[in-house]
Amino acid sequence: MAARILILGCLISFASAAVKLQEMFSWNVLDWNYPDSYSRQNALNSGDLQPENALPVGIEKWENKLFVTVPRWKSGIPATLNYIRLDDRYEPSPKLNPYPSWKGNELGNCDTGLNTVYRIKADECGRLWVLDTGTFGYDTNVTNLCPYALNVYDLKTNQRIRRYVLRPEDIVFTTFIANIAVDIGSSCEDTFAYFSDELGYGLIVYSWEENKSWRFSHSYFMPDPLTGDFNIAGLNFQWGAEGIFGIAPSPIKSDGYRTLYFSPLSSHTEFSVSTRILRNESKVENGSFKDFSVVGVRGPNGHTTAKVIDNLGIQLFNLIDQNAIGCWYSARPYKPQNIAIVDKDDVGLVFPSDIKVDDNRNVWVISDRMPVFLEAELDYSDINFRIYTASLDSLVEGTVCEPPIRFQLNPQTLVQPQSVNYNTNLGSWQTSNLPYKPAILQSQLSLLKKPLTENIIPTAPSYIDVDFPKQIRPAIAYNPRTITDSYKRPWWLKRTYDVYEDS
Ligand SMILES: *[C@@H]1O[C@H](CO)[C@@H](O)[C@H](O)[C@H]1NC(C)=O
Ligand SMILES: *[C@@H]1O[C@H](CO)[C@@H](O)[C@H](O)[C@H]1NC(C)=O
Ligand SMILES: *[C@@H]1O[C@H](CO)[C@@H](O)[C@H](O)[C@H]1NC(C)=O
Ligand SMILES: *[C@@H]1O[C@H](CO)[C@@H](O)[C@H](O)[C@H]1NC(C)=O
Repeated sequence: MAARILILGCLISFASAAVKLQEMFSWNVLDWNYPDSYSRQNALNSGDLQPENALPVGIEKWENKLFVTVPRWKSGIPATLNYIRLDDRYEPSPKLNPYPSWKGNELGNCDTGLNTVYRIKADECGRLWVLDTGTFGYDTNVTNLCPYALNVYDLKTNQRIRRYVLRPEDIVFTTFIANIAVDIGSSCEDTFAYFSDELGYGLIVYSWEENKSWRFSHSYFMPDPLTGDFNIAGLNFQWGAEGIFGIAPSPIKSDGYRTLYFSPLSSHTEFSVSTRILRNESKVENGSFKDFSVVGVRGPNGHTTAKVIDNLGIQLFNLIDQNAIGCWYSARPYKPQNIAIVDKDDVGLVFPSDIKVDDNRNVWVISDRMPVFLEAELDYSDINFRIYTASLDSLVEGTVCEPPIRFQLNPQTLVQPQSVNYNTNLGSWQTSNLPYKPAILQSQLSLLKKPLTENIIPTAPSYIDVDFPKQIRPAIAYNPRTITDSYKRPWWLKRTYDVYEDS
């Protein structure tokens, strides 16, 4: 009986490798929840609500709220920052609710309103970080109603707890900030936010503690002139001026700092810089050029605008030319062989505009056909916007992005190896000079003291990372992460998993 349960366990984890992003919500056209049908009709009559002008671009998940941003590129967008209640009765195309309120989204109200918001970030301290670009309109038809301002909300009270206007020195004439990243250090006070200036080619740093900002410039923020041609959704267009866009911080490293990964939109290259540099304002002036690094090249069709890194160091990012989500495990060299596609869909994933990972290791993706909206026209008789979710571990399972399995070491045992290798000749695991039998590894599994996701700051040598050879992985790598997560899948994913038949 025990053996049978073990086999079933393996089958479940193996079968979940086939699980891809699950479509959770979809819309032909967006709509908003008004207090009553009378006020909605009024909004339609006055032009305050023009649903066909609304394109969702950013998402974030926090507890029972799924935030959705809608830039005010055209008129008739009643709120730019919105949310969907996940504990409401399930509807496939839910209406948006303004966050924190209708009043808090007032266009042109620089003190208490919001004009246009793109990407947002909820942090572990219960704060929502929102950058209002202050703009109305798009491209050549843009009006700057208000200055660029960071707005931070307390998610528990839904109150805005800070507004910070970027300094004139932080922006340039062409500034267009489309993405945001948050870096929490030793406490909630010790937090920095980073903003990528896509068209002004800068990286703006904001210190929460000092309530102060500064701006880095670097040639790595600029577009690669050879990769400005795009083919998406049957459209060919040139976005050749598009610089630094996707930014994502790694987990905290042993030196106490994170690595901020970034990439220009018109580029196939990944770059990075330590937050030790970004957090230090004096580095702006004092020759930090060499502190920025080239991480590697994704290869052709590698344009990306959004990335996220989980606590284990797995990076997920959108691949807008391929209607796909890619992955990379950041301890491996950044090159095409180490990059995998976790899902691809030429209908549903046309322009996967944003990607996030929540506290339960669920991935959230929104796709919105943005190039069709901007360069042509959307067909509103068709589904245009979709929100997907899936557990991160099931997405990367069986790919080159699957991290090594981390074993906590029992301090009582004699063996505290730095590394473990499988010796195919001996048929056993070698650590230092001691043979480390699979059975011992197996027993170490039961010594896992806490969930793997809590290993933000590795304290070597209390654990080892083992890259199991693929062929023996199913036999040895009983992976507690995978098994727990298959039960953690949200209730609304009704799909049951096919268990592979033994052949
Ligand atoms: C510019 O924006 C205004 C206001 O939304 C709109 O009426 C006008 O058609 C736009 N012009 C262009 C060229 O897009
Ligand atoms: C932060 O700076 C802004 C200036 O943009 C100021 O209005 C605000 O009062 C400051 N907040 C705190 C908490 O110091
Ligand atoms: C840059 O370094 C020089 C000398 O090392 C120092 O005098 C100067 O104050 C520094 N600049 C800033 C902005 O910290
Ligand atoms: C910031 O950088 C300067 C040199 O550019 C260095 O002297 C200083 O120690 C750094 N500050 C911190 C807090 O690391």
